[in-house]
Amino acid sequence: MSTPRILGIESSCDETAVAVVRGKTIESNLIASQVEVHREYGGVVPELASRHHLEKIDLVLDLALKRAGVTLEAIDAVAVTYGPGLVGPLLVGLQAAKAIAYVRGVPLLAVNHLEGHLRSVWLENDDIPLPALSLLASGGHTSIYLSPDEESIVEVARTRDDAAGEAFDKVAKLLGLGYPGGPLIDSLAPSGDARAVRLAPPKMSDGSLDLSFSGFKTSVLRHAQARDLERDFPAGEPDQETRDLIASFQASVVEFMVERVMTLARREGARSICLSGGVACNTALRARVAAEGKAAGLRTFAVSRQLAVDNAAMIAFVGARKLRRGETADLSQNAVPRLEI
Ligand code: KG4
Ligand code: ZN
Repeated sequence: MSTPRILGIESSCDETAVAVVRGKTIESNLIASQVEVHREYGGVVPELASRHHLEKIDLVLDLALKRAGVTLEAIDAVAVTYGPGLVGPLLVGLQAAKAIAYVRGVPLLAVNHLEGHLRSVWLENDDIPLPALSLLASGGHTSIYLSPDEESIVEVARTRDDAAGEAFDKVAKLLGLGYPGGPLIDSLAPSGDARAVRLAPPKMSDGSLDLSFSGFKTSVLRHAQARDLERDFPAGEPDQETRDLIASFQASVVEFMVERVMTLARREGARSICLSGGVACNTALRARVAAEGKAAGLRTFAVSRQLAVDNAAMIAFVGARKLRRGETADLSQNAVPRLEI
């Protein structure tokens, strides 16, 4: 059989995304972002997200097929995110996927959003040396996984509180920078002195190598309050003291993640390190992981920025792997808002 062409649908949070993927060829990859809708609330409002997914899904689907130069007739299977995520938004994508699978009589593939992020690195790269250690850091999840072979994924560390992206978003919000925080902090950090403020990494009393980010956020808040730092920058131009705090926060969080990754890579005998999820866009994180990986003689793979954020190409790619294994879903497939790998 020739390589199946998979239609991917992703709607777990605030991006309505549809992609057409065949093997490792991304024939189209469309994303309608709702960032502007949620910006004034400083975070995703689930009801608004559901409504906007409903309004956009048909259009995004049409455009994705057009961009790929195909019609639904050419689709061999439909892959859709079934969790984790917001239940309303998830249901919009699931219903669309089920309808297409039913009408076209093709398999439905239910994909875990986190697995999509993790495998996005495999979609873009061949021959990743195993075992591979993956840091998956997004707005809702942050974990470190080990891939001992081509199929299995084992979680080896996870955040005990906030996700890494959530910490960036909350710090940006409390400093009056805007939303989402990650890209803003990433672009402002180089203009500050990262050694200006010391933000201590969390200490696990049980010696665990788990992650934790809420302490960094609290330290930033305390520091800002103590210094009575300006809390609103209408022109998007923070003062120097705030820039120093931003730079210090980013450097501390990045160093903490890199330290955990390198310690676990040694412990697990990993031969490569992979970065995925929205936080993998972070310039400092990418640079530090590349440098530390090189120093340790490990290959490093950071997903491209295009596939780091929520997208449907990664969902289609995981769907294709499931299709090969015969792991198809049926029309009773429900959304699972809380789901682990
Ligand atoms: O993977 P993603 O698009 O959505 C989720 O599944 O959560 O990740 C979004 C998160 C947000 O918290 C955003 O602030 C963060 O990724 N992010 C970044 C950067 N770009 C996006 N964090 C740090 N630096 C960035 N450049
Ligand atoms: Zn995501």
